Amino acid sequence: MRFDFTDKRVLVTGGTRGIGRATAEAFLEAGARVAVNGRTPASTSSAIAALGSGARLVSAPGDVATASGCKAIVDAAIEGLGGLDMLVNSAGVGDSGPIEEIDEAFWDEMLAVNLKGTFFCIRWALGALRESKGNIVNVASDAGLMGDVGSGTVYCASKGGVVNMTRAMALELAPDVRVNCVCPGYVDTDMVRRDGIDRAADPLAAERALIDYAPLKRIAAPSEIATSILYMASDDARFVTGAAFQIDGGSTAGQ
Ligand SMILES: NC(=O)c1ccc[n+]([C@@H]2O[C@H](COP(=O)([O-])OP(=O)(O)OC[C@H]3O[C@@H](n4cnc5c(N)ncnc54)[C@H](O)[C@@H]3O)[C@@H](O)[C@H]2O)c1
Repeated sequence: MRFDFTDKRVLVTGGTRGIGRATAEAFLEAGARVAVNGRTPASTSSAIAALGSGARLVSAPGDVATASGCKAIVDAAIEGLGGLDMLVNSAGVGDSGPIEEIDEAFWDEMLAVNLKGTFFCIRWALGALRESKGNIVNVASDAGLMGDVGSGTVYCASKGGVVNMTRAMALELAPDVRVNCVCPGYVDTDMVRRDGIDRAADPLAAERALIDYAPLKRIAAPSEIATSILYMASDDARFVTGAAFQIDGGSTAGQ
């Protein structure tokens, strides 16, 4: 075992799929008790069943797109776990399109899920995290550190917001609560494969383009991002706050 989170209490939003699910799995393997959030009770229950339905799992369903949804999620986690040591904000939506085709509903949904949801989950979790001297890891993106036409302008805006909000919160909450974010490049999840590659006119070419995007010439596995999230949340990272950790195969290193 690389990390020991025995009896630590962790909430993972968007824990039903992709990076969030891999993170929930990794925390469980490392001994933590994990509250899993999915948008609906049904998706949360089936993720919990897939994770083994053990006594160390707590259900925290709810929609992060509203402040009240975030409160319900965080309250369920704190009640089920008896407090909170770590919050991982992984719930997110990705979509792109030319600026001329973006309407207000598209903008509002992406900013509500990716940015407002991250803020309000932290807002409601803060009392418990201050008590435990816990920490927060936000899942941002390489598209929060640079413009990326493929990811889209609105997604870049939302993830840029997550990166800089992470820094501002790290300053405000130091020295009690550490706040960091990870900035993945393309990762093999539903967001990229089901909603991107598989829907492209030429899926093979679309996959090749994403592989070529990173200097290391591949798409990451969700478990690779999870490992970095566990590092950020661990005591090994006790001098790390306000960091935006790129796990992107070199995509933000330059041209
Ligand atoms: N896949 C990538 O290439 C990639 C790259 C960089 C960053 N990210 C970020 O990683 C995070 C996880 O994405 P993923 O790739 O695992 O995608 P995914 O689509 O597999 O998972 C997204 C998760 O977020 C949840 N979610 C979406 N809207 C929600 C809402 N309103 N309320 C509650 N939960 C909601 C989904 O149910 C799901 O569990 C996102 O924030 C995404 O922006 C992904």
